[in-house]
Amino acid sequence: MGAIIDGKTIAAEIEEEIKKGVSDLAVKGITPGLAVVLVGEDPASLSYVRAKERACGRVGIISKQYRLSVETTREELLGLVEELNRDSQIHGILVQFPLPGHLDEQEVISCINPRKDVDGFHPVNVGNLMLDLEGPAPCTPIGIIELLKRTGVPIAGSHVVIVGRSSIVGKPLANLFLRKKLNATVTICHTGTRDLSSITRQADILVVAAGRPAVVTADMVRPGATVIDVGVNRIEDPSAKRGYRLVGDVDFPEVSEIASYITPVPGGVGPMTIAMLLNNTLEAAGNMSRGKDAEQS
Ligand code: GUN
Repeated sequence: MGAIIDGKTIAAEIEEEIKKGVSDLAVKGITPGLAVVLVGEDPASLSYVRAKERACGRVGIISKQYRLSVETTREELLGLVEELNRDSQIHGILVQFPLPGHLDEQEVISCINPRKDVDGFHPVNVGNLMLDLEGPAPCTPIGIIELLKRTGVPIAGSHVVIVGRSSIVGKPLANLFLRKKLNATVTICHTGTRDLSSITRQADILVVAAGRPAVVTADMVRPGATVIDVGVNRIEDPSAKRGYRLVGDVDFPEVSEIASYITPVPGGVGPMTIAMLLNNTLEAAGNMSRGKDAEQS
């Protein structure tokens, strides 16, 4: 049986480091502030947003919530984003996705000041990541890299296979692994990939972000590989308190028998995504404070 990568414990360690960063900024009179915007009442989004707000509270970041009705118009939402762009107490802006169908997610992202874009979704930040330049990168991908580094999994020279090409996980993660300082070889697979298992079996590190349960089974994994499961799928379970339970995209009971390391769901990648959001907010506040210092000097 492979070792389980405990994302909850690693995220708690990172939160301790962030707390220290927050108190260092407090000396300069700055408290990092994160605005969290939720449009509508999607139950999964509500629970993510609550988890993000609780995490801010644990490390001393001020979180301001904006819960908007599902009928919010484009003009109202863009107006709020503009207002948050101007608010000097707010260093990070997170608009929770998915948005209701009448709102254009890309338009909303593009309206956020790139320096406050703690999701790393703004086209300027996507470009910076591709060009191997500084700037905020998406939270789940940087959380995965941090998990691997802190577990001691070698990355340089490894073949990383990513299943899923989303703009939130697959594509930014591939760009992170390609950075000179990580130096991995990357293959991205997706729904159009022929003979998926012949490719996943070549992976030293297999990242699965397909959005469906049991996409990866034991026969698709090379014994000794590291497996990172990004999936969060709600499965009906009348015996569970809430009537459902969470499973990933990987058949955990089978694959954990042959992997050298594997992340569980829940308790693997999820807590790291939140820890990285806190870190991006802290960095945004630090960068803005240094910008202000430079203007004053
Ligand atoms: N919805 C699912 N994941 C994310 C994320 O990382 N950021 C935002 N803003 N919305 C999401």
